[in-house]
Amino acid sequence: MKIGILTGGGDCPGLNAVIRAVVRKGINHHGHSVVGFRDGWRGVLDRDTQELSNAATAGILHRGGTILGTSRTNPYAVDGGSELVRRNLEAEGIDALIVIGGEDTLGVGNRLSQEGIDVIGVPKTIDNDLGATDFTFGFWTAVQVCTDAIDRLHTTAESHNRVIVVEVMGRHTGWIATYSGIAGGADAILIPERPFDLDEICSLIAQRHSRGHNFSIVVVAEGATPAGSEDLAEQGETDAFGHARLGGIAKFLEKEIEQRTTFETRMTILGHVQRGGTPVAFDRALATRFGVAAVDAASNGEFGKMVALRGSAIVTVPIEDATVELKLVDSSLYETAEVFFG
Ligand code: F6P
Repeated sequence: MKIGILTGGGDCPGLNAVIRAVVRKGINHHGHSVVGFRDGWRGVLDRDTQELSNAATAGILHRGGTILGTSRTNPYAVDGGSELVRRNLEAEGIDALIVIGGEDTLGVGNRLSQEGIDVIGVPKTIDNDLGATDFTFGFWTAVQVCTDAIDRLHTTAESHNRVIVVEVMGRHTGWIATYSGIAGGADAILIPERPFDLDEICSLIAQRHSRGHNFSIVVVAEGATPAGSEDLAEQGETDAFGHARLGGIAKFLEKEIEQRTTFETRMTILGHVQRGGTPVAFDRALATRFGVAAVDAASNGEFGKMVALRGSAIVTVPIEDATVELKLVDSSLYETAEVFFG
C-alpha cells in the first residue's frame, strides 16, 4: 500500500511524532511505503511531495512544528480543487491519505471521503475543540506553556501591585484558558463560551483587592467577548476557510479594567509561543498512539474514519463526528475554575 500523509492548519507540537509513528509502523509492520505532501492541501494540489523513510523521520519525535510544513490552503476554495486532488492522488499512486488537522483540514478530508477518496483523519489542534475525541495532541503543551507564563506573571504582578491580563489562544473555545487558568491559579478566566460582564469582572477584582490582595491575574481566551458586543478582537483579515484573525481582547481589557478599578493594569498576549517548541510527554505519547492507530486503520480499510482518544483508549470514529460540532468547555470544569475566582 502507498500511504500519503499531510499536516494542515496551524502547526502543533506532536505533529512530527505522528509522522514518525505512521512511517515506522507503516513500513516496518505493514510493508507500506509512505510519502508526505508539503504544506497541507497545497502539496496535494501542486504534487509537491517529500519521501518519508525511517531514516528521514529519525530523531523528530521531540521536535515541534512539522517536517512537512503546513498551510491553510482549502482545495474547495480553488476552482476544480477537489478534482485536482483526486487526479494528483491517483497520479502519485496513493492508496490511502492520512490527514492530520483540525476542523478545517479534517472538514476537507471528510468531504473528499464522501466523494470516494480514501482518507483517514488524525485530530490535531492546540485548541482541543474537536468533537469525538477527549483530547487532541498539542493541547497539553500549550496549557503547560501558558501555565509557566502565568507563574512568571504572578511574581511581577505581585511586586508591582498590578492586574495582569494574559491572553491565550482559543478562537471558539476556552479550553487552554480554563486549564491553564486552573493550573496557574487565575483570579478570573474569560472564555468564548461565556460572554463576560465587565462590571462583574471589575467588582470581583475590587473585592479581591479590598480583602488585602494587591494583584490579580485575569486569563482571557482570544475569542472571548463582552456580553452583547461584537467580536472585539477581530482584525478584519480572513483565511481560506473564512476565519478572521484574532488577537487583542487583552488590550481592550487592560484599558477598561484600569479605568474602572483604578488599579494599574498590564496585558500580555502569549500568541504563537503556545504552538512552538517541543511537545510535553503526554502529547508525544498521544501523537504516537494516533499515528500507529491511523496507519492500522488505513491497512484495515477503515476509510472516512478518524482516530480518537476516548478515556484512555484509542478508537476510530467517523471523521464528521469531529467536525460537525465544536467541543465546548464543560460547565462542570468551568465551575471548578470559578471556585477560585476573586
Ligand atoms: O487553530 C489553532 C490556532 O492556534 C488558534 O488558537 C488561533 O486562533 C489560530 O490558530 C491562529 O492562526 P494563525 O497562526 O494562522 O494566525
